[in-house]
Amino acid sequence: MLALRDEAGFEIAGECGGFCICGTCHVYIARSEQAAFSPPSEEESELAAFLQHYGPDSRLACQIPLASVPEGLTIHIAPEE
Ligand code: FES
Repeated sequence: MLALRDEAGFEIAGECGGFCICGTCHVYIARSEQAAFSPPSEEESELAAFLQHYGPDSRLACQIPLASVPEGLTIHIAPEE
């Protein structure tokens, strides 16, 4: 989330600062590409499921360690909640 917002300049609110309580870092990453990093925790899954634009490719960007993101990964920013 911080890399997308602070380094790449994407408009991601990240209101909770990465503590997995706001859902304002909602992104979409194809399931096939998610295999490269850890699956969502129960906490992340529960929060994401309540998001208005939730889908099968939903992830919370703040819960994905930057070091685990493969080069060339395609990330789509979800509509604002
Ligand atoms: S920044 Fe709040 S859930 Fe990711």
